[in-house]
Amino acid sequence: MRIKQIAVVGCGTMGAGIIQVAAQTGIEAVGIETSEEAAEAARARIKAGLEATASRGKITAEEAIDASKRFTVTTDFNAVSDADLVVEAVFEDVDLKKRVLGDIDRLVGPETFIASNTSTIPLVILAAATSRPERVVGLHFFNPVPAMKLVEVIKTPVTSPEHVETMRALAVEMGKSPVIVNDVPGFVGNLLIVPYLLDAIRAFERGVADMESIDAVIKTGFNHPMGPFRLSDLIGLDIVHDMAASMYEEYKDQRYFPPPLLKQYVRLGWLGRKTGRGFYRYDD
Ligand SMILES: NC(=O)c1ccc[n+]([C@@H]2O[C@H](COP(=O)([O-])OP(=O)(O)OC[C@H]3O[C@@H](n4cnc5c(N)ncnc54)[C@H](O)[C@@H]3O)[C@@H](O)[C@H]2O)c1
Repeated sequence: MRIKQIAVVGCGTMGAGIIQVAAQTGIEAVGIETSEEAAEAARARIKAGLEATASRGKITAEEAIDASKRFTVTTDFNAVSDADLVVEAVFEDVDLKKRVLGDIDRLVGPETFIASNTSTIPLVILAAATSRPERVVGLHFFNPVPAMKLVEVIKTPVTSPEHVETMRALAVEMGKSPVIVNDVPGFVGNLLIVPYLLDAIRAFERGVADMESIDAVIKTGFNHPMGPFRLSDLIGLDIVHDMAASMYEEYKDQRYFPPPLLKQYVRLGWLGRKTGRGFYRYDD
């Protein structure tokens, strides 16, 4: 089955990126947000993303205009009902996600697929919040969605193989390089990257070096595009915190315990690039 229409619930960093790439691919996309203010911010972000992609020469100016006609963002949750696939991309909070998935399940037809962009929450928990666990998969896009090729397609023991194949084919159609992964908390990407980010914060807390120096070692010494503090700011410190908390909840291993400094920054509202301040300041 080919996905022609998608709905995305939650149009922040990830949801807006998913809508942009879907619209560029020729898929009709509707985004759902909680307030008109958030919906307007998402529209602006998607338009700016399309313009930036065109200015980099990845699509033509005409293609960007066509894509901008293929998406809408609304506060009406009923807009999910016509989609072939609904992607949930709200905050990394298990109770919120379960509630949202249950609401989606009640509104869409029996053939509709439901995907979550969760970074760490076991898919089985989310699948069990619906009446169609065999049609629930993880579609874990990476940030920034328009630029990053990887999508982890997460399957649970009850996901049917042809549904996994439909999602893999969709990711390829969207220009991505999917990898099929089993349902373990953190999947592959965050299983490995979250302890690394937390270790960097703990190293700073212990006075090993300042943040710039730790970033410089990783960037220059290992040829990463950025160090762990810049990467945490890009991901969003609230998201890093919530991923750590959710993995700690599952593994009960100190490696995943959110360090005090991370918690403090989140409580201050210093969430990274999206709020203009995280470990670093972003005056632009
Ligand atoms: N930020 C990353 O680097 C990254 C990477 C991969 C996956 N993820 C995952 O993607 C998901 C979203 O993360 P994000 O970084 O886009 O977060 P974000 O904070 O940028 O956006 C979340 C959006 O969800 C909206 N929202 C909350 N409750 C809602 C509801 N009931 N209905 C509709 N909209 C609602 C919020 O208004 C907000 O705009 C999380 O599960 C996160 O773990 C994040």
